[in-house]
Amino acid sequence: MNPRRTPSHNLIGRDVTAHVPTVEQVVGTAPMPAIHEGIWRLAAPHLHVRSNDVHTLYSYELARGLVDLVPGTDPEVVLPAILLHDTGWSRVPEDEVLEAIAPGGGRPDLVRRHEVEGAAIAREILVRSGCSSDVVDRVVGIVDGHDSRAHATSIDDAVVKDADKLWRLTPHGVDTVMDWFGLTREEAHLLIGSRVHPHLLTDAGRTMARGLAAVVRTDTSSQLRALG
Ligand SMILES: [Fe+2]
Ligand SMILES: [Fe+2]
Repeated sequence: MNPRRTPSHNLIGRDVTAHVPTVEQVVGTAPMPAIHEGIWRLAAPHLHVRSNDVHTLYSYELARGLVDLVPGTDPEVVLPAILLHDTGWSRVPEDEVLEAIAPGGGRPDLVRRHEVEGAAIAREILVRSGCSSDVVDRVVGIVDGHDSRAHATSIDDAVVKDADKLWRLTPHGVDTVMDWFGLTREEAHLLIGSRVHPHLLTDAGRTMARGLAAVVRTDTSSQLRALG
């Protein structure tokens, strides 16, 4: 919002805030519920490496959309799993994290290590949070293998995988990849697109990816830039 404008001093000349709907009335606007807020607070100290904290919050919100759209998903497994999936990077030496995920090589041993460490951290946090042993085992099973396992073991696992990848196409994901590898926005979009679209596992995920790609494409378009 332009800081000089307020609800009563704006371009239209009258206050329209009484017509703004509530979060209960508009899909996709509800804040994080308390149960997940508690898990997030315990996970966040393990997510400080390489913007994993911001990545996790975007992927969490994308996963919330996916669980609404994909039949048969269990939000109380998917959403804790996405909050916890990358906590294990905190136990990989920080200077090796980028090497682990770099295009044209990578370090599968480090990728596997962050999954195993993340599974242990997830179990500890979920038990502390009072989750049932069934939920704990299902979430830990998703975290342990979320990157190294190409196939999904359940629809919940598929949705976590899609939400994790979709972040790369968000404005924050593109900025992050540009910064990591010193790429232009166009190059980052090409790299990200090649690693996201062919690997998505749900129709809803594929649709979301096309929407996010449209935003990146617009941001990189010469026509938009020419507008100044
Ligand atoms: Fe990961
Ligand atoms: Fe991730």
